[in-house]
Amino acid sequence: MCRIVAKKELAPTVKSLTIDAPLIAKKARPGQFIIIRIDEKGERIPLTIADLDVLQGTITTIFLEVGKTTKHLGSLNDGDVLADLAGPLGKPTEIKKYGKVICVGGGVGVAPLYLEAKALKDAGNKVISIIGARTKELLILEKEMRRISDELYITTDDGSRGHHGFVTDVLQGLITKQKIDMVLAIGPTVMMKAVAKMTKNYNIKTIVSLNPIMVDGTGMCGTCRVTVGGETKFTCVDGPEFDAHLVDFEELMNRQRTYLEEEKVALERWERCHH
Ligand code: NAD
Ligand code: FES
Repeated sequence: MCRIVAKKELAPTVKSLTIDAPLIAKKARPGQFIIIRIDEKGERIPLTIADLDVLQGTITTIFLEVGKTTKHLGSLNDGDVLADLAGPLGKPTEIKKYGKVICVGGGVGVAPLYLEAKALKDAGNKVISIIGARTKELLILEKEMRRISDELYITTDDGSRGHHGFVTDVLQGLITKQKIDMVLAIGPTVMMKAVAKMTKNYNIKTIVSLNPIMVDGTGMCGTCRVTVGGETKFTCVDGPEFDAHLVDFEELMNRQRTYLEEEKVALERWERCHH
């Protein structure tokens, strides 16, 4: 049983929960994730570790309310308890000195990006960050990203803040002007696919963090399988981070859509009961 110790609303549909989890806080490394289950009948969903506090023994997760489980999670408050929490899962990000790196975060993908960008900065890299959201209200962790970045660029799809357009517009401008040693991109799959296509033309090493459907998170069920370099990999144990130029993004996007109908029905049922 894991207690929620603090809840914050970062935007109407983006919530942050700080959870009492001392063992995970002590062990987790940037790039790893957790799987939670709200109650006995709940589904298991993977969530990002956006921050951790070893002294307080807490971890913070930030998520977008998109379906039944994330909406239910977003309705919980300080003092509420989750049925279970597994983690830290997955392999940590490979943190080393690359030189000049660009960290690209789209929407709530900025949440896992923050700890990784911070670790890359601490390892002596020059960190250029680009964070984007649909609109300024959905832009998260701007202050935190600014603090750990040598340069920070902001984009919004509607032009309400920063560059009017996608993160990839800014990325294109930056990689044509200078030598970049590594790009790390986390966000919607379609964004990571676009980043991979762009950086491949310039032969820049690019890492993405994949978010397929997961069940056990320990390499047993195969739900999270992805094709990387022609081989089947399990995102939960072999990833979640992979070489972007080897990922079969089309297959991943098709698999992410597998349960759209069931997800819609589950959400409608939950909303009927809670309104
Ligand atoms: P979103 O749809 O609002 O997009 C965020 C930004 O991504 C946009 O503002 C834009 O700059 C960029 N983008 C979107 N489509 C693009 C395209 N076709 N080409 C180039 N850039 C594009 O994002 P959201 O609704 O906040 O969703 C975030 C996604 O990140 C979710 O799908 C979530 O599952 C995923 N996520 C991934 C991880 C991970 O570890 N991989 C962690 C957390 C969240
Ligand atoms: Fe089951 Fe990865 S979630 S193998």
